[in-house]
Amino acid sequence: MLGGRFTLSSYTGIDINPQAIATGREAGDLPPETRLLVGDVVEDASLASQGFDMVVNLSCADWNLDTAGILAASWARVAPGGVMVVSLRLTPGASVTSLAQSFQYIHYGDDPVPEGCEKAAYVVLNLNTALSMLSTLPETRRLVAYGYWGKPSATARTPVERVLFGVLAVERDRAPRPADDPVQLDLSFPRDAWLP
Ligand SMILES: C[S@@+](CC[C@H](N)C(=O)[O-])C[C@H]1O[C@@H](n2cnc3c(N)ncnc32)[C@H](O)[C@@H]1O
Repeated sequence: MLGGRFTLSSYTGIDINPQAIATGREAGDLPPETRLLVGDVVEDASLASQGFDMVVNLSCADWNLDTAGILAASWARVAPGGVMVVSLRLTPGASVTSLAQSFQYIHYGDDPVPEGCEKAAYVVLNLNTALSMLSTLPETRRLVAYGYWGKPSATARTPVERVLFGVLAVERDRAPRPADDPVQLDLSFPRDAWLP
């Protein structure tokens, strides 16, 4: 899908789940220089620091217990002048980050969720908290964001009834700037995105 949208000359995909990587390896039409790795993006030392002109982290950071940590690790891989694209679940209310309070069963299809089914974190971040988290990453120059209202997944158990599904692109400066230089924000959210 990324190849259909962007011109990719080289591509590195990483997933902690070997099955996801095996499925990726079966896909045709991959860019000439493709590496598909089984690993943890937070810990994998083979991913060069500041090596990528685009890092895409979709439906991943908020399925992790440490959303800020995985975003920082992804940002650390972005080259100067590059961009990180992230999806996040957002709310005008308080952030919901505890696994006990908000989770999603890892279960697909319409069958009832089996007993003891594995759970993933279902983090929903306060909109301002998320914007602040991303705009204060080192050397953020511009933040472009889009969001729309939707319902949580049917397999999620969460106190949040309405989720603002957001996709955010964070552009990195080519060189460090003075700390008081402004960050440019370009936000396209529903008008009631900030109303609890
Ligand atoms: C909901 S899927 C989204 C997959 C894909 N990005 C998409 O948009 O279709 C989340 C994926 O993130 C992977 N994942 C979660 N934490 C990870 C981590 N720390 N490092 C690498 N992969 C991770 C999971 O194994 C899962 O395949």
